[in-house]
Amino acid sequence: MENGKTFQPVKRPRLDVPATMAIRGPIPNGPMHPRPLIALLDGRDCSVEMPILKDVATVAFCDAQSTSEIHEKVLNEAVGALMWHSITLTKEDLEKFKSLRVIVRIGSGYDNVDVKAAGEFGIAVCNVPGYGVEEVADSTLCLILNLYRRTYWLAHMIREGKKVSGPESLREAASGSARIRGDTLGIVGLGRVGSAVALRAKVFGFNVIFYDPYLADGVEKSLGITRVYTLQDLLFQSDCVSLHCNLNEHNHHLINDYTIKQMRPGKSTRAFLVNTARGGLVDEHALAAALKDGRVRAAALDVHENEPFVLSQSPLKDSPNLICTPHSSFYSEQSLTELREMAAGEIRRAVVGRIPDSLRNCVNKEYFATTKSSAAGSMRYAFPGYPESMNGGGYPFPNPAAAAAAASLGVHSTTMDAHPPVSHSTPHSTPHSTLPESKPESSEVH
Ligand SMILES: NC(=O)c1ccc[n+]([C@@H]2O[C@H](COP(=O)([O-])OP(=O)(O)OC[C@H]3O[C@@H](n4cnc5c(N)ncnc54)[C@H](O)[C@@H]3O)[C@@H](O)[C@H]2O)c1
Repeated sequence: MENGKTFQPVKRPRLDVPATMAIRGPIPNGPMHPRPLIALLDGRDCSVEMPILKDVATVAFCDAQSTSEIHEKVLNEAVGALMWHSITLTKEDLEKFKSLRVIVRIGSGYDNVDVKAAGEFGIAVCNVPGYGVEEVADSTLCLILNLYRRTYWLAHMIREGKKVSGPESLREAASGSARIRGDTLGIVGLGRVGSAVALRAKVFGFNVIFYDPYLADGVEKSLGITRVYTLQDLLFQSDCVSLHCNLNEHNHHLINDYTIKQMRPGKSTRAFLVNTARGGLVDEHALAAALKDGRVRAAALDVHENEPFVLSQSPLKDSPNLICTPHSSFYSEQSLTELREMAAGEIRRAVVGRIPDSLRNCVNKEYFATTKSSAAGSMRYAFPGYPESMNGGGYPFPNPAAAAAAASLGVHSTTMDAHPPVSHSTPHSTPHSTLPESKPESSEVH
């Protein structure tokens, strides 16, 4: 019972599943079962997620960097997984999870999960697409403005003690500073962030063009910007190129030695490059060479081929005219909380509702409902409507079975607050104090 209402279990047939396909029952839960287990795979702080999930699930954290660090109990029993970006789930990794039905990426990019394989195993993969759009767009503009106005380098100069006196000295110090109004900004990928960047850039006087082969005609009209139909056109025309596409199997190293040659070829001033999307879009060796010989005027990168990024270990380590930030564009206190609440909300919908019907941001539906292996019986995806009453009001106390299960996991259950902290010896386990009060120890890149 929740909100004073009594719910009756309703079994609704899925319309998109052939009648011959057996539909798995609901995530086992309710008075006769331990609560379903939800695991945060690559983090340890569940203080935002726990209040949203505690009445319907046992929440555990694994703090793992790979599936080899995840306890067998989680691999066998977790029905839901939350994950940041510091663990990768390949097909082989996904195969290890025996009960998993839903994965929620705490972030918008899902390039660290094999979503096709997940679909084939009947595991729904969801992301949190809307959080932090403003932050990433603002950070992108911040980087673009720094490249044009050289604020970052000028501030460094002053901190290092340089005295700038008179016009000659100023000209030398601020050499390369440029006017924005009238320049062309080329946006690659006009999704949520790309559109937000376009709106901001117009206000600064940029002539905004974009390339996005996946969008239908017309979007350029609603934003009042110009569309080009090839990447080559965009690179040829742009004074500044800003990347906002998602990383997929078709666009790895989209910016490489060959495409860099298409950036303002033959012009005396070359183009700027900004990447706040994904590191894998840029071949860093090619960019390092281009920065060195001036074929790229300057670059600002928030994302990198290898993260966490260490400049001294990167091909870019000696590159001039380069600003690097640590995949922090999305971050603000507000956006991080919003992100975690939205991710936990999606898991909650999976537990109390139907997969995929109740999910808002399932990104692999196309693989999920139609594949043979699903039809053959790995039917993790279809379970009937699930009343909140079975998870919620009828189950007010920590479930002893779930608590016992979690205690043996080497992970920590947020529904076990009544129990004293347990220390474990497995590699992934970490001593804990009561989770709801615990502070985030690190903000992993999303
Ligand atoms: N740095 C950060 O902190 C941070 C935070 C959030 C998102 N991101 C990244 O920013 C990017 C944009 O996020 P979003 O939420 O706007 O995504 P989105 O899915 O809304 O938009 C991506 C757009 O890119 C287009 N696209 C895909 N491949 C393309 C290609 N080869 N050429 C041109 N366009 C292509 C798609 O059609 C889509 O319109 C993603 O890579 C995401 O992972 C980074």
